[in-house]
Amino acid sequence: MAVLEIVHYGDPILRKKCKSVKDLEDINSIISDMFDSMYEAEGIGLAANQVGLDMNLFIIDVTHTEEADETHIFINGSIVSKQGEDQVFQEGCLSMPGIALDVTRPEKVTLKYQTPDGEWHEDEFGGLLGRAIQHEMDHLNGVFIVDRVGEVERIKYQAELKELESNSKSRLRSRSEKGFVL
Ligand code: CO
Repeated sequence: MAVLEIVHYGDPILRKKCKSVKDLEDINSIISDMFDSMYEAEGIGLAANQVGLDMNLFIIDVTHTEEADETHIFINGSIVSKQGEDQVFQEGCLSMPGIALDVTRPEKVTLKYQTPDGEWHEDEFGGLLGRAIQHEMDHLNGVFIVDRVGEVERIKYQAELKELESNSKSRLRSRSEKGFVL
């Protein structure tokens, strides 16, 4: 079991478009560390860049609902189309502790993705799973929930966002200083 550090708003890796995963050889140990990290943080979804990995990979566990009896792993995902009416739903984010926002998103998405066995799939997802997929795909494209709401909503959390940003900067600084300790 390895719990990885979850990076927060202000860390540059969360503003990057993540790279495709070419080699699936060692993917299972990364995925297992991601599940450990997500459960430790009590999240229902986690994108690779939230644990500092520049990879198009995310995991979701909505087994607490009627929707699913198993966990999901999505590799090299891309949203093919969006369907249904727009819906408003409150979302939180492990990379933005203390912030919850009403985010408008389409009801369903069709996602093309790979599973760890290398197989390609294209499926439509709705409900909480469809919502979580859109949230995690946003992460892999460098987008946060604050980018999905209006100015008025965003301003409410200005102080929190500033603090997260400055904490991330000092975390990055201490990390690079540690690099010189022999
Ligand atoms: Co998030």
